[in-house]
Amino acid sequence: MESPSGKLVHITTFGCQMNEYDSARMLGILSELGYAPAESPETADLVLLNTCSVREKAQHKVYSFVGALREVKRQRPGMIIGVGGCVAQQEGRQLLKDIPYLDLVFGTGALERLPELIAEAASGRRVACTDLDPGPLAPRRVALANPGLKAMVTVMQGCDNFCAYCVVPHVRGREKSRAAAQVVEEVAALAKAGVREVTLLGQNVNSYRDPEGGADFADLLEMVAGVPELWRVRFTTSHPKDLSPRLIEALAGIDKVMDQLHLPAQSGSDRILKAMRRGYTRARYLALVKDLRRRAPDLALGGDIIVGFPGETEADFQASLELIEAAGYDFLFSFKYSDRPFTKAIDLPGKIAEAEKSRRLARLQDRQREISLALHRAQVGKLEEVLVEGPAKRGTGLMTGRTRANRAVNFPGPPELAGRLVMVRVEQGLVNSLRGKLVDPA
Ligand code: 5AD
Ligand code: SF4
Repeated sequence: MESPSGKLVHITTFGCQMNEYDSARMLGILSELGYAPAESPETADLVLLNTCSVREKAQHKVYSFVGALREVKRQRPGMIIGVGGCVAQQEGRQLLKDIPYLDLVFGTGALERLPELIAEAASGRRVACTDLDPGPLAPRRVALANPGLKAMVTVMQGCDNFCAYCVVPHVRGREKSRAAAQVVEEVAALAKAGVREVTLLGQNVNSYRDPEGGADFADLLEMVAGVPELWRVRFTTSHPKDLSPRLIEALAGIDKVMDQLHLPAQSGSDRILKAMRRGYTRARYLALVKDLRRRAPDLALGGDIIVGFPGETEADFQASLELIEAAGYDFLFSFKYSDRPFTKAIDLPGKIAEAEKSRRLARLQDRQREISLALHRAQVGKLEEVLVEGPAKRGTGLMTGRTRANRAVNFPGPPELAGRLVMVRVEQGLVNSLRGKLVDPA
């Protein structure tokens, strides 16, 4: 791809959906500077990494990725390498010390300042910017030429919860909501360009509050659902302690809001939940789930569980196994606890051995596979509205799409269906997907 200035940028994204959104924003900002996307880091003039530090493993990836660029940079010294995102926020200047050929470090609040930071780096100075306050979040500037069928839109950033294990409040700063009008404008622009499904993003969307009009998240959902060309709205993540009856109502009542909720529990043990500072008990969590299922029977529920939090006994872990059973998760993200800088948990006694964490994780994941499989098998015979994304894996002759509950469905059908809503009869349930058959609209 040729750009006006002929300069190419390559962005690699690690971590969560919010980072993916930030990378899309970066690309928008850089395309205004005349950069076009490069096929690979090796051919780029500017190589950016958008990093994640939520777990130690994610952070390690950054160092190995940058390490692999060392030789490229030696051969092409004019190339600029920059590390942004949560690791950049966390480590700041230290990254420049650790990696002698790194040019630029930009934290989570520095996105809008990229043009000046890059100019500075281009003049030969090594720069680090870790000013955490992003100021008012500017609207996204995306190349809207070909945005695809689905897009993400950040509605709030940061977190005020300070869960004992979590680095997010330290690297993303305090909660900050975007103006509802700006969010709706962005969604409308995406929808106009062909996007049919948006996922609204925030560390804790339940705390959303429009800084201009005072709308809460349920109001925002209603406003976004009002965008005519948009078909589907999803959102993530909800904190159990703040899940409001109004939001449950919006989830159940607004047709464009899909039947899916990510509601991380983190543990099933009250003792551990308290040590984690989660602000709810197991009973309260399960009562919420019950309420949700009553109001929205088709809801697919997702969760996060951390195994091996400091002090977690076998009995505590059993309680987590029981919780995933009782919650009946459709999908579960599960992690081994890892120490993060600045957090409370780093100083807690009773750290669990790595091997034991691995064993617990494997047990949890084995159990979850059975739960998912049973849930998916129970879908057989149901008629599902599916947004068709395109051909499934090459050569199979199948098309793939997502149900309202966000379950992947594969079914025989012509490629022309891509981008359309169709009805599919479920014929088979697998661990991670469904198989089905197209049903005539007539
Ligand atoms: N160790 C392991 N998992 C963690 N998470 C957050 N911090 C840690 C940590 N220190 C998990 C939580 C969170 C998800 C995004 O990452 O489950 O919901
Ligand atoms: Fe981290 Fe807890 Fe905030 Fe989620 S709610 S980002 S786990 S501190």
